[in-house]
Amino acid sequence: QMAALIESDTPVASWPENWFRVGNHIRKEGLLLSESFEPGSALKSMRGRNRDQLLEAITASGLKGRGGAGFSTGMKWQFCRDAESTTRYVVCNADEGEPGTFKDRILLNSHADEVFEGMTICGHIIGATQGYLYLRGEYRYLLDALNTTLQRRRDAGLLGANILGEGIDFDIAIVVGAGAYICGEESALIESMEQKPGIPRIRPPFPVTCGFRNQPTVVNNVETLAAAANIILRGHEWFETRGTWQSRGSKLLSVSGDCARPGIYEVAFGVTIEDILHDCGATDVQAVQVGGPSGSLVGPDKFSHCIAFEDIATGGSFMIFNHTRDLLDIIGKFTRFFAHESCGFCTPCRVGTTLLNNGMQKICSGHGTAHDVDELARTAALVSRRSHCGLGITAANPIRDGLKHFPQLFEARLLHQEMEPEFNLDASLA
Ligand code: NAI
Ligand code: SF4
Repeated sequence: QMAALIESDTPVASWPENWFRVGNHIRKEGLLLSESFEPGSALKSMRGRNRDQLLEAITASGLKGRGGAGFSTGMKWQFCRDAESTTRYVVCNADEGEPGTFKDRILLNSHADEVFEGMTICGHIIGATQGYLYLRGEYRYLLDALNTTLQRRRDAGLLGANILGEGIDFDIAIVVGAGAYICGEESALIESMEQKPGIPRIRPPFPVTCGFRNQPTVVNNVETLAAAANIILRGHEWFETRGTWQSRGSKLLSVSGDCARPGIYEVAFGVTIEDILHDCGATDVQAVQVGGPSGSLVGPDKFSHCIAFEDIATGGSFMIFNHTRDLLDIIGKFTRFFAHESCGFCTPCRVGTTLLNNGMQKICSGHGTAHDVDELARTAALVSRRSHCGLGITAANPIRDGLKHFPQLFEARLLHQEMEPEFNLDASLA
């Protein structure tokens, strides 16, 4: 069931059987990435179907947001369409900033037509005439190529006024971010598009009713929009040939770290972590960080679990660490990342991530005591519970997962090499 595509410049001694090379990529069977896509084909396939029928196709496919949260795409588009306003927007979230995630880059590089077509279809369904692609600052080098693709689409009548002579008006502009991780959070992204500091808004109201310029706005991940274009073109039955009932279709994973074949893999939802490790040639595995630092740190006891919204969800990152890696140091680096990227708006995250970072550095350097571990667990719980947005809510995940699944690593690094009697992990995590 594993469909895979590997993007890798490093020479690899032995690829698995039946894989073939396409350009710079190594490919096995696929769903999204391996299908060839003729620009305009999804738009042309809309002919003869009204907006309700098109929306029904997206809803029936069960497509869920590929950014990581897994909200129903059909429902999101419907909410936006039903919101009272004469102006609506479509925003493609290409602020791919989660450490270890680089799967949207390949879609923007090699599948931009699908992404733009998905945005156009969404615009038609919800009644928007303008879309924006919010491009991660570090991906600025893709800007010229993306603008060329947009112009080519306008010249071909696939974008702009009266698309394909069907009376559909829709155009797309690109907004380049400035390198802040928090701008991947949809409401901070919208603030940034409005030329304001990227501080997350209070939700609700969600963007579907009050988004860009306070108008109803659909914000979708790059992969979600590419999948939507293919669903309209090929039908929801095609989409359902992969995945599980609750997580239909396939998922792109950015596989990196200690394995023989790192790269972009397209997997069917429901694939086990074990299967992925086997396919990418990871033999010595201490832990896998699924979904990046804001996701889950899993050890061998969870390798039989599945990549699926109902099991282990991921926005696309899959980082592998072998036994030579200092996992505590990695947890410390993830914690420092969040402290650095906190926007500073709310106290639990602004102060809490700094306290977590200080605590981790103390423990990593061998100066921590059991009391520090206890404090760390308590602060982690507080930051997760009390923060204003997803960044703060997930910032303590590496520490909490580390304490839960790898407590021996913390214990071994303590000043006195043992947890003090009063340390109670369960109580700290409660
Ligand atoms: P969320 O669950 O709050 O919302 C997900 C989406 O559903 C949003 O677009 C939101 O507007 C919409 N939504 C939720 N409830 C709604 C309602 N009642 N009515 C209308 N719309 C509704 O998740 P959030 O905070 O937006 O994103 C967190 C996720 O992002 C995490 O799962 C994390 O894995 C992922 N993430 C992805 C990154 C990446 O680079 N792709 C980076 C960091 C986090
Ligand atoms: Fe900013 Fe962190 Fe609060 Fe989010 S949780 S609003 S990133 S300070």
